[in-house]
Amino acid sequence: MKFFIDTANMNEIKEAYTLGCIAGVTTNPSLVAKEKNVSFHDRLKEITELVPGSVSAEVIALDAEGMIKEGRELAKIAPNITVKVPMTPEGLKAVAVFAKEGIKTNVTLIFSANQALLAARAGASYVSPFLGRLDDIGHNGMELISTISDIFAIHDIETEIIAASIRHPLHVTEAALNGADIATIPYNVIMQLFKHPLTDKGIEAFLADWEKRA
Ligand code: E4P
Repeated sequence: MKFFIDTANMNEIKEAYTLGCIAGVTTNPSLVAKEKNVSFHDRLKEITELVPGSVSAEVIALDAEGMIKEGRELAKIAPNITVKVPMTPEGLKAVAVFAKEGIKTNVTLIFSANQALLAARAGASYVSPFLGRLDDIGHNGMELISTISDIFAIHDIETEIIAASIRHPLHVTEAALNGADIATIPYNVIMQLFKHPLTDKGIEAFLADWEKRA
């Protein structure tokens, strides 16, 4: 499983990217709205110049025609832009057009296996099931990852599964175990992944012993 960072914040992206384990970035309109005094296009340009992997940028239009227009503009920003499209019939019409044009897509707001299968069959490069939001309403988000992963394996579907709406480190481990190809993770959770009290204690002990050397 690969790691993407789920943010539009440049400081977080820069800091996480230097860790060497981040393969891409996902943004959404809510994350972009948190960023003040910068245009969406300028921010995407900045991100794509730093990160060579997939950078998801979401369309705002709700009709296929509008999504196609917006997506084509977004795709012009850089070759590694992935156009993020909501899981609706209009969204999938747009995905089908983008697939023919060689524009990569990430179908977002996936909450069922059938939605993931439909998106894959329309030609989506990625599907993004939202774990945390399913957990929030008392459903099992991880079961969805596992079911989609089984279905894609049975039918040799190449669409990659991005475990999204990750809230804590256990989501990350379980997403990896349940077949997600990628986890897109907020910066604070990425940093939590590094933490283990025995690592800190071990460093402390090694340094203390080093100081005692003859
Ligand atoms: C991913 O593509 C989504 O933007 C994101 O993971 C949503 O997470 P949230 O449910 O915490 O807003």
